[in-house]
Amino acid sequence: MKTFEKKIRQSASQHLDGKPAVTQGHVGWESPSNIAIVKYWGKYPGQVPANASLSMTLRESVTRTMMDFYFSEKRKKPGVDFEFHGAAHQGFARRIEKYLTGLSGFMPWISHTKFTIRSENTFPHSSGIASSASAMSALAACLCEIDEQMFGKDPAIEFEQKASFFARLGSGSAARSIYGRMAEWGITASCGDSSDEYAIPLPELHPDFFGLKDSILIITTGEKEVSSSLGHDLMRSNPYAKLRFEAAEENMQRLCNVMRNGDLGQFIDIMENEALSLHAMMMTSSPGYLLMKPGTLEAISRIRKFRAQTGLAIGFTLDAGANVHIIYPGQQEAAITNFIASDLEELCEEKTIIHDGMGMGPRKL
Ligand code: DP6
Repeated sequence: MKTFEKKIRQSASQHLDGKPAVTQGHVGWESPSNIAIVKYWGKYPGQVPANASLSMTLRESVTRTMMDFYFSEKRKKPGVDFEFHGAAHQGFARRIEKYLTGLSGFMPWISHTKFTIRSENTFPHSSGIASSASAMSALAACLCEIDEQMFGKDPAIEFEQKASFFARLGSGSAARSIYGRMAEWGITASCGDSSDEYAIPLPELHPDFFGLKDSILIITTGEKEVSSSLGHDLMRSNPYAKLRFEAAEENMQRLCNVMRNGDLGQFIDIMENEALSLHAMMMTSSPGYLLMKPGTLEAISRIRKFRAQTGLAIGFTLDAGANVHIIYPGQQEAAITNFIASDLEELCEEKTIIHDGMGMGPRKL
């Protein structure tokens, strides 16, 4: 069994026959989405990433989750009522129930608890912003808080580490949303105490990267043709997978150095290589698929041309979708938002662009 998992199970076993100090109450957390610079793509059973990843935590794109809980020893499995933007949502409720059932091995009280959950996102669905990252990290933070209210804080376990561990079990990228600015998840030679079990805040970040911006071009709001879960699965038979995992580790090592020394040019170089490598993996899977659209390619070409002409530090990254994340330092905001409005807006569905940037992580409500 993994080290941290063991620690969490040991901690839970200490209060197996103890009654919770609190049996009902209310908690709320707001948690952000994130955009990966080095991508997590491919995993092993138990939400173990095939390579380490590094992301920027967003500021504006967040999920707000409010949770009422009622503990009763008579209840034998978790119950969930779930409302998304004020409307009951059975599909999400079942998914959360499954997630909670999985977590009850770590927090046995979950099996005896009824949850009433209300959640909302500040960003539109299918916008290319990872809603699973913000939603699962907000849920994990709520559960960790209830756990502390019921059984007290275990001084041997950090709140964030535990929240990141539980968020990961819901969605890998959610593990990184627990930390502000930049976070790293997965064992890598380049980051001190990195782990496959939880994310860590990037240990050293040059101040030139503080306040990075992310303007998201909504090329299309349509549902993705292939889900990320299937995409991860297809990596198992991708003939280039091994090379990809090695290249990702190399990019992690380079990027961690760059994040320390503040070289924006190299940052952009690595980021764009990662975005294109991710989509190359999609194209070379069996069956192969393409999530980029003509507007995606046109935007990339215009961004690169603008960079060559102006020398400004502007680069792009892509998530598992067609929408383009434009990343640039806050100091260049005026010039770059002008360029986006004049040259890129026309490529977006209903001219939609979401302006976001680096955020400081989850917040208790
Ligand atoms: C392309 O975290 O959504 O956004 O663990 O199956 O929930 P699950 O996958 P998920 O995959 C994210 C893939 C990515 C890259 C990244 O965020 O690192």
